[in-house]
Amino acid sequence: MNDHSEAILVTGGAGFIGSNLVLEWIRNHRTPLVNLDLLTYAGNPSNLQSLESDDGYTFVHGDICQEELVAQLLRKYRPRAIVHLAAESHVDRSIAEPDAFIRTNVQGTFNLLRAAANYWSELNSASQKQFRFIHVSTDEVYGSLRPEDEPFSETTAFAPNSPYAASKAASDHLARAYFHTYGLPVITTNCSNNYGPFQFPEKLIPLMILNALEWKPLPVYGDGGNVRDWLFVEDHCSAIRTVLERGRPGEVYNIGGNSERTNLDVVTAICGLVDELRPDHGRGSRKKLITFVKDRPGHDRRYAINAAKISKELEWKPVVAFEEGLRDTVRWYLGNAEWINRIRSGAYIDWISRNYGERLAQ
Ligand code: NAD
Ligand code: TYD
Repeated sequence: MNDHSEAILVTGGAGFIGSNLVLEWIRNHRTPLVNLDLLTYAGNPSNLQSLESDDGYTFVHGDICQEELVAQLLRKYRPRAIVHLAAESHVDRSIAEPDAFIRTNVQGTFNLLRAAANYWSELNSASQKQFRFIHVSTDEVYGSLRPEDEPFSETTAFAPNSPYAASKAASDHLARAYFHTYGLPVITTNCSNNYGPFQFPEKLIPLMILNALEWKPLPVYGDGGNVRDWLFVEDHCSAIRTVLERGRPGEVYNIGGNSERTNLDVVTAICGLVDELRPDHGRGSRKKLITFVKDRPGHDRRYAINAAKISKELEWKPVVAFEEGLRDTVRWYLGNAEWINRIRSGAYIDWISRNYGERLAQ
């Protein structure tokens, strides 16, 4: 007999990836989901408004760093799994103000692991076997690749270069330790750059779409030759679900889109799509808005993922090609002006002026 429920506890479910994951889960899986989110500038409850009257969905406004709150939630909902996405996630912000990254990503993850281990240790053995703690992390923990290097595999040594990457690497180590020391069935995923609906427009793709729409400069850091491996957010969510259902405790799975692109290629493609979908023949192409600006300090040159392990072992692979996903994403931003207006609040405007004011003035 199990002494857990069918519920899962998601942290950070009001953010970009979390919103996509939660919406899909409630739509298609129909088992209860509890979403614990602090609603920082990056969390947006309106993403999940359509779930408000859904019996299977519970929103808890709170902080993963609050030990008693997390313990209480585990006692109350008795989840079969925790999917941990809550984090500070933007590299540029981690350079400007690293404190929150250490607090949420390191201390918060530690707090969650400790509370989960306490809860798990009191479950009966049938429930202990089924329980999973999915720790959602990033490929940035592995550092930067040269053009000739092999993509990151699960055994690539950690070499984080930004405060964000370092804080995520620390959390990955804690997740590993909780498996090895206490037996908590933790699985870590390290994923490449995501893009898609609901991404906060501080990140490259939505920022460029919105600026292109409004004929504002498109600020490309450095020479625009930095490479990222782009993955459509729905593919990342399907990988997380796959790992939750079939992944092996104690393992790490790299997740990637097999879509390496330079930033300049990505921004040029966005210009082409916005030109096509919102033509302004009088003004010509948005490509002329591309503006090379001062580079990010410590800017990683290249990320690339070898996703052979998750593909072979769990039979997961991405299904959305980059060009198709980018087109859908541009369309989504074009069709959601109200969402954009709502999040472009004081805090957003303040960040844009702090990060780009000086860069664009040069
Ligand atoms: P996001 O910044 O859009 O959302 C983060 C969410 O966490 C927000 O809803 C925020 O309110 C919440 N949050 C922050 N601090 C919290 C706290 N102390 N307690 C509770 N909730 C808190 O992030 P995202 O892009 O959706 O990323 C989700 C996870 O996936 C992160 O762990 C990130 O490191 C990882 N990841 C992201 C990407 C990517 O490209 N976006 C790629 C790989 C891995
Ligand atoms: P970002 O979306 O911040 O993700 P990450 O740093 O986690 O990979 O940035 C993606 C790439 O785009 C990265 O190489 C930095 C670059 N970039 C710009 O050139 N201009 C910008 O305004 C931003 C936000 C990012």
